[in-house]
Amino acid sequence: MQCKFVLLPGDGIGPEIVAQAERVLQAIAEKFGHSFEISRHIIGGIAIDQTGDPLPRETIDACKASDAVLLGAVGGPKWDDPNAKTRPEAGLLKIRKELGLFANLRPIQTFPELVDASPLRREIVEGTDILFVRELTGGIYFGPSGTDVIDGHDTAYQTMVYSVPEVERVVRLAAEAARNRRGKLTSVDKANVLEPSRLWRRVAERVVKNEFPEIEYNVVLVDAMAMHLLSRPRDYDVVVTSNLFGDILTDEASMLPGSLGMLPSASIGSSGPGLFEPIHGSAPDIAGKDLANPLATILATAMMLRHAMKRNEEADAIETAVRTVLASGARTADISPGTASVGTKEMGSLIIKSLASM
Ligand code: IPM
Ligand code: MN
Repeated sequence: MQCKFVLLPGDGIGPEIVAQAERVLQAIAEKFGHSFEISRHIIGGIAIDQTGDPLPRETIDACKASDAVLLGAVGGPKWDDPNAKTRPEAGLLKIRKELGLFANLRPIQTFPELVDASPLRREIVEGTDILFVRELTGGIYFGPSGTDVIDGHDTAYQTMVYSVPEVERVVRLAAEAARNRRGKLTSVDKANVLEPSRLWRRVAERVVKNEFPEIEYNVVLVDAMAMHLLSRPRDYDVVVTSNLFGDILTDEASMLPGSLGMLPSASIGSSGPGLFEPIHGSAPDIAGKDLANPLATILATAMMLRHAMKRNEEADAIETAVRTVLASGARTADISPGTASVGTKEMGSLIIKSLASM
């Protein structure tokens, strides 16, 4: 099989973790006899430094011409000036929009070997298995915004906007995912206050009732959901929500398995290449020190092979290698509080060794 992958390493630890994912991709190509054509392009802060634009045209074109995109992370203190013309994060928002990636899948699973790395008690988190589906190209992140002087005060606004088709497509995708899992879907909104949430709730209920009658469906307000995630995370299967709520709730949920460093995500549209990335950020404080955990990016590579290439066997091999290496006791610093740890490159090598021995 021939595939064209674009790597967007980005900023901070991005290049280090993507380098390990690339080694894993090469190992998979060899093991399964595929030919992967891999190219690298710039996004985020590094792209601002080199071109003034966090998402140069050339990067967009390369992504659109690929089968799938693997991203590291963007951003860092160097580009944090609130008065700057543009920001690294704008590049990420724009590539999502350009590729039509309206759904962001964030699986939150506890790894049995790491349950004690969670800040929450074992009896609460053990066995948690949630798939978050975050709407990714609408809502307040993309609504009309601006600044003004109102009543003599500097004022800023940003508007939450959702249309019926935007809600329909993401709820449909989430309900299909639920059908292939435990058959439960939770929609999270703030319909007691926000108008777009009332539309969201109406549309979500209609789509599920009409098209997925077999699904066990419920709605939860976002503030209550923030609580439930910490008190009874096992109650949830698939959770679908808007862009802003999904951004916040998935960072919260990432603490259930213990480390942000273990969690991959997939952003997909109705057609065309998807974008696969770790859910963590660029961690500038540890960049360049061989300390970062590459496993989230390596697991994102598995998601890429499964979702974009329909290669379950290859994806399973990577996931099994990750579990085997964890079971052997190897840990990067983020998941080995106080005990000996391995570096980014060493972790990549262990995964490759495990793949070779399968
Ligand atoms: C994420 C990130 C991005 C987001 C930022 C970097 C724009 O936090 O993928 O969750 O808010 O969507
Ligand atoms: Mn986020």
